[in-house]
Amino acid sequence: MRWSLPAFLLSLSPLGVLGQSSTADAYFAFESPIAKANLLANIGSDGANAHNAKPGIVIASPSTTDPNYMYTWTRDSALVFHTIIDQYIAGQDDTLSPLIDNYIAAQRVLQQVSNPSGTVSTGGLGEPKFNVDMTAFTGSWGRPQRDGPALRATALITWANSLKNASQVNDLWPIIKLDLDYVASTWNETTFDLWEEVSSSSFFTTAVQHRALRQGAALATALGQTSSALTYTTEADNTLCFLQSYWNPLGYMTANTGGGRSGKDANTILASIHTFDAAAGCDTVTFQPCSDRALLNLFFYVQSFDIYALNTGIPSNQGYATGRYAEDVYYSGNPWYLTTLAVAEQLYDALIVWNITGSLDVTPVSFPFFAHLVWGTRVGTYSAGSSTFAVLTAAVKTYADSFVGVVAKYTPADGSLAEQFTRTDGTPTSARDLTWSYAALLTANDARGGRVPPSWGAAGLEVPAVCVRASAVSTTFNVNATTVPGEYLHRWVASGAAELVVEYCAFAFVCVVSYLVE
Ligand code: NOJ
Ligand code: NOJ
Repeated sequence: MRWSLPAFLLSLSPLGVLGQSSTADAYFAFESPIAKANLLANIGSDGANAHNAKPGIVIASPSTTDPNYMYTWTRDSALVFHTIIDQYIAGQDDTLSPLIDNYIAAQRVLQQVSNPSGTVSTGGLGEPKFNVDMTAFTGSWGRPQRDGPALRATALITWANSLKNASQVNDLWPIIKLDLDYVASTWNETTFDLWEEVSSSSFFTTAVQHRALRQGAALATALGQTSSALTYTTEADNTLCFLQSYWNPLGYMTANTGGGRSGKDANTILASIHTFDAAAGCDTVTFQPCSDRALLNLFFYVQSFDIYALNTGIPSNQGYATGRYAEDVYYSGNPWYLTTLAVAEQLYDALIVWNITGSLDVTPVSFPFFAHLVWGTRVGTYSAGSSTFAVLTAAVKTYADSFVGVVAKYTPADGSLAEQFTRTDGTPTSARDLTWSYAALLTANDARGGRVPPSWGAAGLEVPAVCVRASAVSTTFNVNATTVPGEYLHRWVASGAAELVVEYCAFAFVCVVSYLVE
């Protein structure tokens, strides 16, 4: 017969609740103003590190050698400006609006710059990066990267939705429409992933494309652009359908359809936090941060970094230093600040929703995630006010804070955040002062503070029964079918059967032990 441990026993977890939370409090209080100042220092042309960049242009990092990041990436810039836009809309900083105007003006020009990916009408919008003087970068690179236009559209639509003046929105619409038309017509084509390495289909890219199209359809409707609205809605449904196909039934989201890796990758954590919509609750089809799939995925992603010396001796129920993916060799393959912070942010987002809805579900899918944090957890629905709800949310908060604790531990005294810290001793490495690292710190802090970003329309979406993979090519597949088309089958084989077996055993072990302890 099953029994539950009394709440006070559960709360005596080895996590040290108070320690983690006061460390995170102190670190965010110290680091947030530094992150904000250092982020702004990387935006041209007033930013101290970005005087050579045109107004509104975000440099990836001031580093000019080993690596040279003195370029502007569409992805990094959109994520950074989405952070700035959210802060402005939330009333956190009224001084940011001229900077946002500069970003918009710069993107309006950049969209038209012909580059190795094409002209504005032949694929140039998928170009990943430009020189900081806004000329094309013509060296060889992993191109195109189709997440860029989607992320930019999302940032600009979020901005448009906050504007009171219709003429300002109408003025923005042509830029937004260019990006959305690009996404609507190319989402089903091969892309380099956000790490610029694998050319295939990529979960992060599909997820942010879906969000952009969904938000774009709503804006188009509001502006009376009915034909655009119809196109975006149709392709949003198709991308949502395709999005489901990345799930590996062993318990995690596969990052890329190509690449020959396990598929466990920060790609998927970042997808979850950048498509967070509190109105969607713990919805699985849009992979919301508190969905059972996203929690189990987080569990497997984090555990895959037990290979880092830096994580040796850390109990598996405490924060690890995490990187892009375990097989990474870039700068010898290290933890990244922005990926470790993304894990914390996903958990803070989850807490926001559990607290709003006053309910938390432990499903058979999310069970291993919860069970490894709190012994004796049982599958069930727990309402706010119950001791189990209190214990589980406290444990998740402590767990989230412990990832921040890792970042705090490896942040130098001056508060600077590079791209990576070494897997051996945590020394900062690769690009210094990475703008995206600072944005990740700010968004994690906002999520911890309970910030609820504007809804983008993820609530109540249903996956069409039959997916249309390519409107032009008109191939169809059924996500619920037992046989999957070659491309998806290939993914299973490529991911390596042996590795999957090992992981499955670890997964089963946690379940069995936890059931026995129960
Ligand atoms: C390889 C890295 O893994 C990738 O992320 C990076 O963008 C390129 N090299 C260029 O530096
Ligand atoms: C390498 C990362 O893999 C990529 O995602 C990023 O856009 C660039 N560096 C610039 O920060």
